[in-house]
Amino acid sequence: MKDATPVQPVAKYRKDYTPPSHNIETLDLVFKLHQTQTVVTATSKVLASDGASRLSLVGEHLELKALHINGVDWSDYELNDEGIVISNLPPEFDMMITTELDPSANTALEGLYLSDGAFCTQCEAEGFRRITYFLDRPDVLAKYTTTIEADKSDFPFLLSNGNKVAEGELENGRHWVKWQDPHPKPSYLFALVAGDFDQLVDSFTTRSGRKVDLEIFVDKGNLSRAHHAMLSLKNSMKWDEQRFDLEYDLDIYMIVAVDFFNMGAMENKGLNVFNSKYVLADQASATDKDYLGIEAVIGHEYFHNWTGNRVTCRDWFQLSLKEGLTVFRDQEFSSDLGSRPVNRINNVRIIRGPQFAEDASPMSHPIRPDKVIEMNNFYTLTVYEKGSEVIRMIHTLLGEEAFQSGMKLYFERHDGTAATCDDFVATMQEASGIDLDQFKRWYSQSGTPILTVTDEYDANLKTYTLNVRQYTAPTATQADKLPLHIPFDIELYRQDGSVIPLVIDAKSVGSLLHITQESHRFVFEAVDEKPIPSLLREFTAPVKLEYDYEESQLVQLMKCSTNEVSRWDAGQTLLSQYIKQAVSKGVDIDLSKEVINSFKALLVDQSLDKAFVAEALTLPPHSEVSGWFDTIDVDGISKALTQLKLALAKGLESELLMTYQSLGGSEYDISHQSIAKRALRNTCLGYLSCLKQHHRLAQQQFDVSDNMTDTIGALSSANQSDLESREDLMNVFSKRWSHDGLVMDKWFMLQGSKPSADALSKVKLAMEHSAFSMQNPNRVRSVLGSFFNNPFGFHALDGSGYQFAGEMLTKLNTTNPQVASRLIDPMLKFARYDEERKQLMRRELELLRDTPNLAKDLYEKVEAALK
Ligand code: TRP
Ligand code: ZN
Repeated sequence: MKDATPVQPVAKYRKDYTPPSHNIETLDLVFKLHQTQTVVTATSKVLASDGASRLSLVGEHLELKALHINGVDWSDYELNDEGIVISNLPPEFDMMITTELDPSANTALEGLYLSDGAFCTQCEAEGFRRITYFLDRPDVLAKYTTTIEADKSDFPFLLSNGNKVAEGELENGRHWVKWQDPHPKPSYLFALVAGDFDQLVDSFTTRSGRKVDLEIFVDKGNLSRAHHAMLSLKNSMKWDEQRFDLEYDLDIYMIVAVDFFNMGAMENKGLNVFNSKYVLADQASATDKDYLGIEAVIGHEYFHNWTGNRVTCRDWFQLSLKEGLTVFRDQEFSSDLGSRPVNRINNVRIIRGPQFAEDASPMSHPIRPDKVIEMNNFYTLTVYEKGSEVIRMIHTLLGEEAFQSGMKLYFERHDGTAATCDDFVATMQEASGIDLDQFKRWYSQSGTPILTVTDEYDANLKTYTLNVRQYTAPTATQADKLPLHIPFDIELYRQDGSVIPLVIDAKSVGSLLHITQESHRFVFEAVDEKPIPSLLREFTAPVKLEYDYEESQLVQLMKCSTNEVSRWDAGQTLLSQYIKQAVSKGVDIDLSKEVINSFKALLVDQSLDKAFVAEALTLPPHSEVSGWFDTIDVDGISKALTQLKLALAKGLESELLMTYQSLGGSEYDISHQSIAKRALRNTCLGYLSCLKQHHRLAQQQFDVSDNMTDTIGALSSANQSDLESREDLMNVFSKRWSHDGLVMDKWFMLQGSKPSADALSKVKLAMEHSAFSMQNPNRVRSVLGSFFNNPFGFHALDGSGYQFAGEMLTKLNTTNPQVASRLIDPMLKFARYDEERKQLMRRELELLRDTPNLAKDLYEKVEAALK
């Protein structure tokens, strides 16, 4: 017997990769589905790679029922904590393993579980080991056949990957279906779904003329809410053919929407499983943001069919190979279909806010991590979003044409295999002839580089000099940093707003500068007046830019910059200067007339995209501002942001009101123009609600609203400004929607983010609501996720917010560690707060560390934070 002391979770290192001891050619799965006792028989053809006679398979929460090798009952095995070790094996053999498992007890939502009575699976990253003992690693690619048997009336639909090849009836009202997937795949792409659904059916004809059946499965009664998802799927299929020359490769594509899901969605081959949040939408229940989210996530999972499934990852350290690339592809998809600047602005916000925060946290890691304890902890903003920025930089360096040649070569070389990030960069380099050797450091180096820029203008020589330094501060796990290859796009403007051509050494040069050394000096010639520099245009690299702008320069850039992202950026920089001043010096915000006027100019300019104007008028959130300081002054930042909003509201009052009124009353549709109008109108409402004389607008809008965007616009304005009408409106909303968890998530989020000290009591009440369930990750994230980021409630000085967080995390640690581990992030940066808060938070982290049976997920983060 083993000693009962808990084993310390062990880390895995990227450098330790070794190929698998065996390959599995085919896997034939038979599921006899049962809520508490599902029996899985897995028959496989196994080949030893180099004469190995011992095979270690991983398995968790399984009961082994039988093991046969070449038809013989096999007793030469040992079970351990991780799985099973089978010995004395021949070099080639058939293996049959029977296991039993309990889907009803599976609250972690990994492996086979029940979602509202339907069976479904989630196998990425390491969930397949909860289904059978297996080589559950992405470089073992097998051809799967799946037979599912279940009760026919409760589970009329039995789904798995690939094509349906047979079906039949059984006694006792049971039936079975057999699926075959012709494409070899790693176990993380396996999926099974069984249940009773409404089914939306359509088809897509590929450009080579093949007809593909498209099927979306939703809970009964939700069919009318699946149309936008279907449209998005067809748009994705067409776009991937046009822009990336990639066609779908099976005769059927299925999407199942489930309510219980840990993440957004999963790209299982031919059978995507989606969080219902990213499928269901209609005018009454979904906001425009929801619609755009659906388009992006449907696209993302569809694009994985090539970047992820056809070419998969050799090991999980390479996750960004598929995720960074697929995020890049879904961002391009959204930008080609909608507004490119608005998409770019939102991507930049995510990098500058939460991704930079992750870089500065104890969990900071490169886009290709070196050390992992729990893989689920590495589905991060760094791997996904910064990973996409790294792909985007390659795209910037190569240009669209060479980038597409690189993609072509990537598929020629790696289709049907498990590849690495190095493989990807190698194909890009070869196809383009551009040296990416130094660029590759972006894969191995963590942290946010800082670009410090200074300049001089020589009026006699007509030269303008830019001095650029790069510096990356040491991060938690990397002390030494090397200079990166940073694409740095710039433009120079005259006072009249015209562009100054860039000339170096008497030759005209493009706007893209290459920063490769620690410091550079660029001398531009024939510069006829002191220019206004527009720096890091389009955010060509995920770095922090430091340049001492004068207010008048930013005002000018807001007006004249040739691209909208730069105009937005100039506005944000302008506001950030006021915020930084106010917080660090404790002074009140007093916006200059010029600043007010430049925001006013954007607001009244009818030639601008209204969605862009809405972005330009949106203040950076508290969480992003926190990242600008070494020590976070929670209350100072809240105060500055409140003052800033009020100052803009006062300064722009009549224009805000005019815009608000002029944008009302149009017919609802989800065209980009209508979305833009609603966005700007609701932005105006947010400002106007700060002013006493307009306190009734929110309620008025709420009362007449015929769509969820305007309803939520009204409700969040009432919430943000804590209006007298808030309680009433919240009550009306919860009565109207209490039957619908997805819609109630919006209400839960507002309760969690109420900007006042009573937020915790609101959260506790919300958790009593009939629509709340601690088992449902969407509900938990809405209430607790918003609260843990609430500067008023969570950071209350009596420590009540932290203590509550500790209790909730302790509960979730046992039921759903993956969800717990995502929620804990705001606590990891405890060391950056004032002394009192620091001590209070540390105490909660220490209590968590000492929790019995702390899951690997929380263990890894808590240890990193307390180190
Ligand atoms: N691969 C999925 C995606 O594209 C991510 C994912 C879905 C996931 N469910 C998961 C990752 C569960 C880990 C665990 O984006
Ligand atoms: Zn993905």
